[in-house]
Amino acid sequence: MLKNYYLLGLCVTGLTLVSMSAADVDTKKIPPASTRTDVTFDKDIKPIFEKACFKCHGTEKQKGKLRVDSLAAIKKGGENGEVILIGKSDKSSLVHAVSGAVEDELMPPDGKGDPLTKDQIGLIRAWIDGGAK
Ligand code: HEC
Repeated sequence: MLKNYYLLGLCVTGLTLVSMSAADVDTKKIPPASTRTDVTFDKDIKPIFEKACFKCHGTEKQKGKLRVDSLAAIKKGGENGEVILIGKSDKSSLVHAVSGAVEDELMPPDGKGDPLTKDQIGLIRAWIDGGAK
């Protein structure tokens, strides 16, 4: 009898873990968007990505089949489709990734570069919300 309860407990734990792994986004971790309205890829965003992302998402490597070294490449997305949703930075997986809003999906990955600052993420958000120009 005790053994049955034990097994039931294991099942419930297993199911909870499975349902949690479906990319739960912790929106509290996403910093607010900058209020700037003149953010552009070339001027503001590319330098951030160049420092933090190009080595894995540029000419040499395309981890997750994603490049972030040109506007066209970012709009194309990666192996799981679009990474930015224009006008909806809070729903953009790239923003989730750099904010660490999804467990175990921080970009740059742990130990592979400094995390982006709140200001940098705020700029990326303002850029996406303003049309990703
Ligand atoms: C050290 C290498 C490395 C760096 C640096 C890095 N990434 Fe990644 N990235 C990966 C890997 C590997 C994946 C594939 C998914 C995984 O295994 O986590 C990935 C996947 C992604 C994805 C998901 C693509 C998809 O369609 O599934 C996004 C978005 C992303 N990275 C954005 C960024 C951004 C933005 C930066 C810079 C701020 C960055 N990454 C820096 C290694 C890196």
